[in-house]
Amino acid sequence: MTASTQHVKSQDALLPRHPDTRLEADWLFLYETLPPTKWFNAEYVYKTSGWLNIHADIRKRQHILTQISDAYQSGDIDWAQYRSQILPRINQYVFKLHQHHSIEDNSYFPAFIRMYPPLKTGFEILDRDHVRLDGLLHELQALNGQLAKSEGENKVLSEQLHKTLINVSNLLSQHLSDEEDLVIPILGLN
Ligand SMILES: [Fe+2]
Ligand SMILES: [Fe+2]
Repeated sequence: MTASTQHVKSQDALLPRHPDTRLEADWLFLYETLPPTKWFNAEYVYKTSGWLNIHADIRKRQHILTQISDAYQSGDIDWAQYRSQILPRINQYVFKLHQHHSIEDNSYFPAFIRMYPPLKTGFEILDRDHVRLDGLLHELQALNGQLAKSEGENKVLSEQLHKTLINVSNLLSQHLSDEEDLVIPILGLN
């Protein structure tokens, strides 16, 4: 490998992972030291895996909800199956996410800002994501409440739920990725 290809490779490795990342180059000094390729190395994994596992669980729950909704929208399951599968899962999902965000907002993020003041603006972006996600989760919970009362088929309601799930999924994928790129190196290196 020549010096110039080595340079290009290392530049690539430093980019945050999400295509629409909001993270600025100035905030990536820890990410450069501990990039995602090292997060599961033996010397870091015991400090990084707790956070990554919680996010993996959130992604899995979101994926299952989207699958159920897709299956109903494409006619693979009927209203009764759709309703019985998605109702309890949305309730658990909203509860889990609120719980996770509240620990981050009240405990972890303020501590990380005290440790690394230059990252404050990055954590403010994540805070604002939580506010937007709260709004979407509130909408999701309200639609789920209507679903609980709708024994008869209601296609308009299922379409609204589907759209809200997609909005949550899109914001969450950007949020979790940017959050990990900022937080996991802090956890691993301390
Ligand atoms: Fe978060
Ligand atoms: Fe998180």
